[in-house]
Amino acid sequence: MAVTRTFSIIKPDATRRNLTGAVTQMLEEAGLRVVASKRIHMSREQAEGFYAVHSERPFFGELVEFMMSEPVVVQVLEGEDAVTRNRDIMGATNPAEAAEGTIRKTHALSIGENTVHGSDSDENAKIEIDFFFDASEIVG
Ligand code: PPS
Repeated sequence: MAVTRTFSIIKPDATRRNLTGAVTQMLEEAGLRVVASKRIHMSREQAEGFYAVHSERPFFGELVEFMMSEPVVVQVLEGEDAVTRNRDIMGATNPAEAAEGTIRKTHALSIGENTVHGSDSDENAKIEIDFFFDASEIVG
């Protein structure tokens, strides 16, 4: 299995509840290495740009406002088959449907306030990493 990278966001519901460390520990225990990390307060431009693929969905405005509401931690994660590994430890988008032991089952509050974002493909991981990070900020 190849070592690859994925992009992760620890969302406002988690930073607000001081769960940055707890979430990162679950990622690390799942075999992912944090090779870049920064705490930012997303601008409207960043939130709308990052989630542009969802701009026609009914919850788009709510999603953008939520992601701007408190700081987030954006991360690049590295590991074997990182996209799949990360999505497995994240659990389903809706915490009510997430498996036991996953980050969302353990910590998420709702389908919107669901603690983490993770890229859904290698292709999107590269796009999302490039959206928030310069190559010089990633130290493998
Ligand atoms: S997925 O993974 O793309 O199939 O999930 P999806 O259901 O399409 O959701 C995409 C992102 O939108 C968020 N979301 C919501 N936010 C606010 N309110 C409602 N009702 C809602 N439904 C979905 C969801 O948390 C996903 O965020 P990310 O950051 O991409 O995980």
